[in-house]
Amino acid sequence: MTESRTHVYVHGGVSGTDKPLPSLAHSLVEAVAAATALDGVEEAVRRLEDDSELNAGWGSVLNRNGVIELDAGIADGATGRVGGVVGVSVRYPVSLARRVMRSTPHVLMAGDGAMALAESMEVLDGTTERQIERYERALDSGELEVQHYGADEHVDTVGAVAVDSSNHLAAASSTGGVFGKLPGRVGDSAIFGAGTYASTGAAVVGTGVGELFLETLASARVARLIEEGAHPQSACERVIAYLGTRSDAPAGLLALAANGQVGAAYRGGSWPVEGPSGPLGAVCLE
Ligand code: GLY
Repeated sequence: MTESRTHVYVHGGVSGTDKPLPSLAHSLVEAVAAATALDGVEEAVRRLEDDSELNAGWGSVLNRNGVIELDAGIADGATGRVGGVVGVSVRYPVSLARRVMRSTPHVLMAGDGAMALAESMEVLDGTTERQIERYERALDSGELEVQHYGADEHVDTVGAVAVDSSNHLAAASSTGGVFGKLPGRVGDSAIFGAGTYASTGAAVVGTGVGELFLETLASARVARLIEEGAHPQSACERVIAYLGTRSDAPAGLLALAANGQVGAAYRGGSWPVEGPSGPLGAVCLE
């Protein structure tokens, strides 16, 4: 890494169904101009949170009671500092997660306590018409019952990994969680080592039904392989294959090494991933 620019890679959430991949280029325009990897991932995820078609920030899915409860996590590989928020309702949860990291002695804040830190931030009190209609259809059809939890079309999250000209790494994830989740349910995105990870050697973000990532600490597994010398592509593929031995649920992992090598692998129907050179062909495993 000799160029003085931040390399940022983003994803828009794995889907169990095969659907057209949206462009994520809008999330990279300002992010690549960021001075640090940490600024780059925050900026990229804020733009993804603004995208009403993605399940994070504005446009998030509703829980079983028809309410948004958003989770986000951010990790600074250079300092080892981490921040996360769960069950919040602000427009840019990733920035609230960064505030937890920067302005408190804590790592993870929930609900009202996290919202008390959101002074001067825009509060979000709902979601898009599309998500409201989806919720009402599901309510009528019984699709909100627990046996439908994590169904293929219910899965998505956004995230970013970045490396800057000092070879510092960062990662961030943000999500509305899984459609129809029980109130109070916490996913993997804000949990370090599950859905988000960064160190001096690796930055990793995950997407899929969070329970699978929480039970396996999937992002930490990918990072460990990279820190031990594996190429990020190989590391992602190995951990996705392992997840496949435990569950049929769609899952994706995006990872970056300090030398700029990148990898992305998934199981499921489709997964948009983009980087500085445009869409990244994430490898789909059976
Ligand atoms: N991967 C997002 C969630 O399960 O909440």
